[in-house]
Amino acid sequence: MHILTPETAEDFERYFALRWRILRQPWGQPLGSERDTLETQSWHRMACVEERIPVGVARLHLNNPEQAQIRYMAVEHDRQRQGIGVALALELEKVARLLGADEIVLHARDDSIGFYEHLGYRVTAPAHTLYETIRHSEMHKRLR
Ligand SMILES: CC(C)(COP(=O)(O)OP(=O)(O)OC[C@H]1O[C@@H](n2cnc3c(N)ncnc32)[C@H](O)[C@@H]1OP(=O)(O)O)[C@@H](O)C(=O)NCCC(=O)NCCS
Repeated sequence: MHILTPETAEDFERYFALRWRILRQPWGQPLGSERDTLETQSWHRMACVEERIPVGVARLHLNNPEQAQIRYMAVEHDRQRQGIGVALALELEKVARLLGADEIVLHARDDSIGFYEHLGYRVTAPAHTLYETIRHSEMHKRLR
C-alpha cells in the first residue's frame, strides 16, 4: 500500500468519489456534498494498493498557523481495519508538523472515536450532529 498525493484530474475524481461513497452516499446526499470551500487550500492524501486507485482518502487544512484540522477520512468498507486509516492519519500528522502546527483538531463520528483514540487523540467537547443522526465529538492531539 502506498500513500500518494492526488495530482491529476483523474486522481481527484477517484479521490472525491471514494469520499462521497463512504461519507455521503449512505445518507442520501448528492454528489458534490462531499466537498467544501477549502479543497484548494488543503493537503490531500490517498492510500492506493493498485496504481493510483484509492482505497482510502484523507485531508488536512490549517485553521491557523498553530492548528491543523483533519477532515474526510474514509476507507473502502472491505479495506477497513487493515491499517490504512492509521497510515493516512500519520502521513497527515507529518504534513502538519512540516507546516509548523502544534496540534491537530478533528470532529469524529461516534463510530470512529476508538480509531482516533488509538492514534492518541482525546475527546475535548461534543460537536455537531450531521444529518440529524451522526453525532460528532471534538478531539485534539498535541504534535510537540
Ligand atoms: C474510521 C476509519 C477511517 C478507520 O480506518 P481503518 O483503516 O479502518 O482503521 P485502521 O485499520 O488503521 O485502525 C487501526 C486501529 O484503530 C482502532 N479502530 C479502527 N476503527 C475503529 C472503530 N471503528 N472503533 C474502534 N476502534 C477502531 C483499532 O484499534 C484498530 O486496530 P485493530 O484493527 O488492530 O484493532 C474507517 O473505518 C472509515 O473510513 N470508517 C467510515 C468513515 C468514517 O467514519 N470516517 C471518519 C469520519 S470522522
